[in-house]
Amino acid sequence: MKKVLLVGSGKMGSALLTNWAKKISHLYELTVIEPNNDAASKISSLVTNAYKKLSEVPKHYDPEVVLFAVKPQIMEAVVPEFKIFTRKALFISIAAGKKISFFENHLGKEAAIIRVMPNIASSVERGVSVAMASLETKDIHKQLCSDLLEAVGEVYWLEEEKQIDSATAISGSGPAYFFLLTECLSSVGEKIGLPSELADKLSRATAAGSGELLYQSDVSTQDLRTSVTSKGGTTEAALKVLLNENQLETIVEKAVQKAYQRSKELSS
Ligand SMILES: NC(=O)c1ccc[n+]([C@@H]2O[C@H](COP(=O)([O-])OP(=O)(O)OC[C@H]3O[C@@H](n4cnc5c(N)ncnc54)[C@H](OP(=O)(O)O)[C@@H]3O)[C@@H](O)[C@H]2O)c1
Repeated sequence: MKKVLLVGSGKMGSALLTNWAKKISHLYELTVIEPNNDAASKISSLVTNAYKKLSEVPKHYDPEVVLFAVKPQIMEAVVPEFKIFTRKALFISIAAGKKISFFENHLGKEAAIIRVMPNIASSVERGVSVAMASLETKDIHKQLCSDLLEAVGEVYWLEEEKQIDSATAISGSGPAYFFLLTECLSSVGEKIGLPSELADKLSRATAAGSGELLYQSDVSTQDLRTSVTSKGGTTEAALKVLLNENQLETIVEKAVQKAYQRSKELSS
């Protein structure tokens, strides 16, 4: 069994662990380092071993993968002590804004490092991740990383590291955009006469169902839209407003550009 050491099991770390435990725990021995008692207790049944810090891990332990899932702000304090694993392990980071060069500086130029940007839909096996490998990373490492990420959704490999900022603005932050659109739909539903709970249920089910259709269908998004838009009907009436002078696209572009700029600003 390959040994995977997860450093940090908060929202993203536990989303990964939950699905790994469910789907691929027969192939991997899962170990976690998590100092937070609440977070640790939530995942304790999913892992073989759980520790609060690296110094508690037995000396002979030699993981094939070390995956960093702590907040970017504390990476500087956390990463350096993991250099002891550089010769054997593949390092994977899912932290926003932390470049491959940051990890090379702390773990050595010879370290195999893969930078990944997942999203929170990984918690329901519908995640989408992008990944970028360092020069030292071999095909076998990329395969190992793909195997772990495919257990929680889709994976796309990037050619250039700077594309991570673009992907962060689209798929990393993206789930929140769809949550907001669903909130808007629900609150308008109330305004036009639905009880609040029903408006929420209808909006969520509509978002989920549309997502499932997008997921299952090979048809373009534009064709999916036009196929449900009858001439002179209700959908067309709404879409005329949303498409008027590209207002929706303009505001989406403005928002995504902000996320993209912020991702670049946070990069180090
Ligand atoms: N959430 C998302 O949608 C998302 C999407 C893409 C990428 N990411 C990336 O995923 C990473 C984790 O984000 P998150 O939202 O999962 O954060 P989170 O919920 O705060 O999880 C981080 C966990 O790490 C723990 N921790 C703190 N110090 C540690 C240490 N020295 N060793 C091991 N664990 C430690 C934290 O404990 P305390 O709470 O006690 O500090 C917390 O339980 C970030 O780098 C983020 O950029 C997140």
